[in-house]
Amino acid sequence: MKVIRTVSEVQEWSATERSAGNTIGFVPTMGALHQGHAELFAQSVDENSRTVVSIFVNSLQFNSASDLEAYPRQLEQDKVIAEKQNVDVLFVPNHEEMYPNSFSSTISAGPIAAHMEGLHRPGHFDGVATVVVKLLNAVTPDIAYFGLKDFQQLAVIRTVVRDLNLKCHIIGVPTVRNESGLALSSRNSRLSPESLTQAPSVYAVLLEMATQARERETTTTALKAHFTSAMKPFSAAKIEYIEIVDSVTLHPVNTAKAGSTICVAVWFEDVRLIDNISI
Ligand code: PAF
Repeated sequence: MKVIRTVSEVQEWSATERSAGNTIGFVPTMGALHQGHAELFAQSVDENSRTVVSIFVNSLQFNSASDLEAYPRQLEQDKVIAEKQNVDVLFVPNHEEMYPNSFSSTISAGPIAAHMEGLHRPGHFDGVATVVVKLLNAVTPDIAYFGLKDFQQLAVIRTVVRDLNLKCHIIGVPTVRNESGLALSSRNSRLSPESLTQAPSVYAVLLEMATQARERETTTTALKAHFTSAMKPFSAAKIEYIEIVDSVTLHPVNTAKAGSTICVAVWFEDVRLIDNISI
């Protein structure tokens, strides 16, 4: 596996691969790799002749310095995971390479970023959109892969790629869960033992709500009340939001039915987890 640290080198590598007739799959990450990332890598390796993975902890998308500081970093471990999945190139730019002193242009993610994550993390999606466009322009992949756990992020990226005429297919890959249903996330490593036992309740309740909504159209108000009361026994959990939205436009809906998605953010002590389920 080749490790590349500069934009110009990865652009040159991609151009050479493409002129040799190879297709390029790309998985952008912030590192702290886990099985969820490994599934994205596996799909890319399966569908493309070359796979690039980037690891860059993007300061632009963090709302607080302490969250950025606490974000897990484990490059040596990440290299082993990527290599095992047959990743061809690990693109690991540093902050200066992505955001030199003269850097000043950012992308505004627009209305699709205005609620849920965007409302609770102001500026987050502008930071995500900016770095993803920079990474896509650096790697120039045919296909880029993103996890469906970050449901709104995927919608924001699809919108930005469409609006800015980027020549790249965007694929959403189903969320990977541990045996108790907890969605795999780099943030899980920061959960206390108590929170780790309580956090799977989020998906368990999401499943209950989806079952109910699949059996009969259920009002958003009823589902919100259900989630709030079902999470009450879990002392470490603090709900930040629960929203039911149209799965494509992400507009809030009044009734949960086929084609809508329930999205939640829940704090477990100082760790914020998000999850979702489509009906
Ligand atoms: O999902 C992530 O890990 C990040 O938001 C991404 C897409 C790599 C951009 O920094």
